[in-house]
Parts: sequence; structure tokens; C-alpha cells
Amino acid sequence: MYYRQLGMIPHKRHTMFKKEDGSLFREQVMGTRGFSGTQSILYHHHMPTEVVKAEFAGSYLPEYEEQQTLKHRHFFTNKVMREGNALTAREYLLGNHDLLIGTANVTEAMNSYYRNGDGDELLFIHHGSGKLETMFGTISYRPGDYLVIPIGTIYRVVPTPGIPTKLLFVEAFSQITTPKRYRNEYGQLLEHSPFCERDIRGPEDLLTYEEKGEFEVVTRSRGAIHSHILGHHPFDVVGWDGYLYPWAFNIEDFEPITGRIHQPPPVHQNFEGNNFVVCSFVPRLYDYHPESIPAPYYHSNVNSDELLYYVKGNFMSRKGIQEGSITLHPSGIPHGPHPGKIEASIGKKETLELAVMIDTFHPLKVVKQANELEAADYMFSWI
Ligand SMILES: [Fe+2]
Repeated sequence: MYYRQLGMIPHKRHTMFKKEDGSLFREQVMGTRGFSGTQSILYHHHMPTEVVKAEFAGSYLPEYEEQQTLKHRHFFTNKVMREGNALTAREYLLGNHDLLIGTANVTEAMNSYYRNGDGDELLFIHHGSGKLETMFGTISYRPGDYLVIPIGTIYRVVPTPGIPTKLLFVEAFSQITTPKRYRNEYGQLLEHSPFCERDIRGPEDLLTYEEKGEFEVVTRSRGAIHSHILGHHPFDVVGWDGYLYPWAFNIEDFEPITGRIHQPPPVHQNFEGNNFVVCSFVPRLYDYHPESIPAPYYHSNVNSDELLYYVKGNFMSRKGIQEGSITLHPSGIPHGPHPGKIEASIGKKETLELAVMIDTFHPLKVVKQANELEAADYMFSWI
């Protein structure tokens, strides 16, 4: 990330910044890794510590199924019936101690405010539009957007009325960043990166609410939900600057890296967190060696699990896949194209597929309820 500023800030940090009535705005330094990571400085009308009530509301961690036979899995997320706001609609499907993954059918605005104190969140917008309102300002979202929301950011999601938002979410227990190999020592994205700073959208409008009153902020921390009632509106920031803020990147702005022969999955990498990566498979020209095979080879990523979320287009290497399908190809066993798909790919010039891949370096566990969404016998669909 790079430096941004929105709203009013004083000329010098940690100096008096006065309101018209002579009282002080309250300065908050918000940063990661102690004071060694990225940070921003925000200026509030009220003390961010003004909490009138705090209550414990139980664990939010999902229950996983028992260990079972190692198999490739296929889940239809379009079968998820749960609806609600961007928090209550979350259907957890897979996870481990590095991240939680699921989908949500968001049909209404969040009725309170929310912050994840356990890590960054990544929301991929499959369908729908709306606004991500945050303490740093508002970001309008549209299909194909990845919304990256740093740990501790107070926010709410407001879908466009009448248009449900379907999203894929990743709740990380770490920071989500762009791949390090695409950044130089100063943090700038390099020429061989498939995207650049111009593609990154920060908060646009900073809406400031001065009002006092009781406002709930649902806080996640230590695997549990806590209700904090603030004595003022949580969006009381008049200005901020720094490197820590929510941002959006649209998958259409990912410029595919192609070659004469099949390119390996890392060329599709878009984000990384601790022990996982997120890749974007976008419409692209196929390999142009006269003898090339565009479909992937069979492969064993021996110690990483590979999850694919299918967004749009036809998926050349698989059969039975629908929009919103999730496949899980676990570590330890090989996977690859379905019968006939390799031959069918030869001579093809381009693909229109759009998919999000999440590779985890520790095994993913399947959430109990996800069984109800599962395709039968996917493991044996290569026969
Ligand atoms: Fe794979």
C-alpha cells in the first residue's frame, strides 16, 4: 500500500488540532505489528475509547466435520439458502487456523457496525453492487471487486436496495497484501506485476457523523464476538492519512501473464496472507507454442490445498462445474483435467473463464454444514 490522505489533518502529527469551538480533535494512531507495520493516523470528534457497555456474545468459529477419507470435494454455494446482512449471512464452508472461507447472500444493510480484530478480511463481490462504509470513508463496489479490509477497521456493507450481493469471503488471521515479489524495496509495484497502483481504489467520500448516542460495534477478537456500545457515532473521523486503509481492486484490472507454453499458477497470484495465497484466473489468450497443451497438466501440490471458486465462463478442465461452485483439491494426492478436456483444449486460442483460487499451505477443514452443498462422488468423476 502507499500513502493516502482524506479529509482534514493538522500540518504536523501529534500536535494540537482544534475544532471551531477550540476543543481538540482526538488523534488515533492505528497500525500493524506494534509500531513497525503499516499505519494511519485518524482524527476523531470523540475519543475512540468511549465505550459505555461491553458484552461477550460467544464464539464465531465454525465446527468442522470429522476427519474422513482424503478426497477431492465439490460444493455448490448457490445452494446456500441463508440470507441477511454482510455479517449474519456468512456461511462458513472451509477453514483452518490461518483463514476462514465462505460465501454470503447479502440482502440487507448491516444494522450495526463491525470490526474484525482477529485479522484482515477479503470480500470478493460475485454479484451485486453497493457501498462499503468505513471509518476511513466509503468505497462503492461492483461485481468483480475484491475489497481488502484491514484488521480493526470499523465498517458496514450497504447493498444497493433490491439487488442482493453474493460474495466470497476470506477472514484471515493475518495481514492480506499484494505479493511481495511484485513490490520493490520502497513498496512500489514493479513493471512485471499484473496490476499497478492505478488499479487500486481507496476510500472516496469521508462521511463524518458528530452525533452522540449509543452505537453498537460488533467486534471479533480471539475467536469470539464481543458487543461494544460506543457513546458516539463510530464514523466520527474528520480526516486521516497513512498507509493503512481499506481498498478495492477489480478482477478485470488483473492483466494476465501468458506464454508459449502453460504458465504455472503463481502467475495468477493477486494477494497473499500468512500461509495462503489468492489468485485470479481471468479471460486470457492461450499458450502459443504450436504444440502447446493449454489445459493444465496433472499436478500434486504436495503440501498445499487448492480451492477454486468459479465465477463466470466455461471451465475448460472440469465437467459438472457451475457458477458459484467451489472445488477443493487437497494436498497429498494429484489432481488435473477431467477425461477428454486436455485433447479438447488443443488448438484453442483463448479462455473466458473467471475464477478465484485460494491455495493454503496448511490443510483446509470442511465445515459440518457444507456437506449439504456437496456434489456426490466428485472424487470419482475422472473415471
Ligand atoms: Fe491445481
